[in-house]
Amino acid sequence: MTTDEIQLVPASQFSMEELTAIYNRTRVDYMVPMPMNVARLAEYVKVYDINLENSLVAAHDGEMLGVAMLGVRKERAWITRLGVLPNTRRGGVGKALMGGLIENAARLRLDFVMLEVIKNNTPAHQLFLKTIFHEIGELLVLRRAPLMPPPDPVIADAQRLDRFDALRLVERNHRMLPWTNQSESMVNAQDVSGLHLTLEDGSRGWLVYQRQKFTLTRFVFETEVGAPVSMAYAILSHLHNQYPRLDTQIENIRVDDPHLPAFYEMGYMESFRRVEMWRGSLPAGLAGFRL
Ligand SMILES: CC(C)(COP(=O)(O)OP(=O)(O)OC[C@H]1O[C@@H](n2cnc3c(N)ncnc32)[C@H](O)[C@@H]1OP(=O)(O)O)[C@@H](O)C(=O)NCCC(=O)NCCS
Repeated sequence: MTTDEIQLVPASQFSMEELTAIYNRTRVDYMVPMPMNVARLAEYVKVYDINLENSLVAAHDGEMLGVAMLGVRKERAWITRLGVLPNTRRGGVGKALMGGLIENAARLRLDFVMLEVIKNNTPAHQLFLKTIFHEIGELLVLRRAPLMPPPDPVIADAQRLDRFDALRLVERNHRMLPWTNQSESMVNAQDVSGLHLTLEDGSRGWLVYQRQKFTLTRFVFETEVGAPVSMAYAILSHLHNQYPRLDTQIENIRVDDPHLPAFYEMGYMESFRRVEMWRGSLPAGLAGFRL
């Protein structure tokens, strides 16, 4: 097969079952196993604003060879779920998929594209450098096991935030977070709520999170006044007292996030790291955002 023979077909022409199957087949040997089922992929498409018309399946002679998806939001796009069948790699399929997605994004007038790659995934990292992505920094995926006894809650005025108030805080937050943690992801996710704390010394801050059946996840936090580490420690002490049985898994926290030491103090462990990469620079419409 030559690269001219690789067909790029909109992912919207395939069923969720077919997309799930090709995705899983491209990931059988992946560094961090993340198999999907149809329900999970459908949820992923919804939460991350995946545009299936502009996502692509690579095919040859009626056989699916690989897949790559494009998330679309205001003035930015996201590349995700890229994979090529193991026995088809190094034949230009990955590059063709990347080129196709970048072209589709450009047709939507989106020149600013984000992605994340697991650290030390050399083939993907090289491919992204080749397609003119540059590194922004490292991201952490952290876990805190369930049933770890939490410390006593730090004395504070603690207010629970319902979904409406929690989302209002997240939407006001002008940081260009990784795609998974952006306000749109929180708005699209179910069972989102939050905690707002005021400490005795006047420090104030909040955490917005998603509570799934067995897991706390999707954390967005902000210190409004005071020191981020003590603020985060206080908020986590309240959160884990409230949900002592739940597992906690959070992803894409920047390594230089000032709240991070509180997470380690609270028993969070690093599961793995990703590298955040951008193509192009922040567009004018997002100029008010900071990293
Ligand atoms: C990453 C992946 C999609 C690349 O697909 P592919 O079809 O093999 O890529 P291509 O043949 O188009 O290669 C394009 C470029 O990527 C880089 N590359 C690909 N495989 C590489 C490898 N094993 N080592 C180093 N660089 C590699 C090279 O720069 C290559 O250009 P070159 O062939 O001119 O040297 C594929 O390895 C894969 O599916 N991996 C598992 C899933 C995965 O890691 N997905 C990305 C998650 S972020």
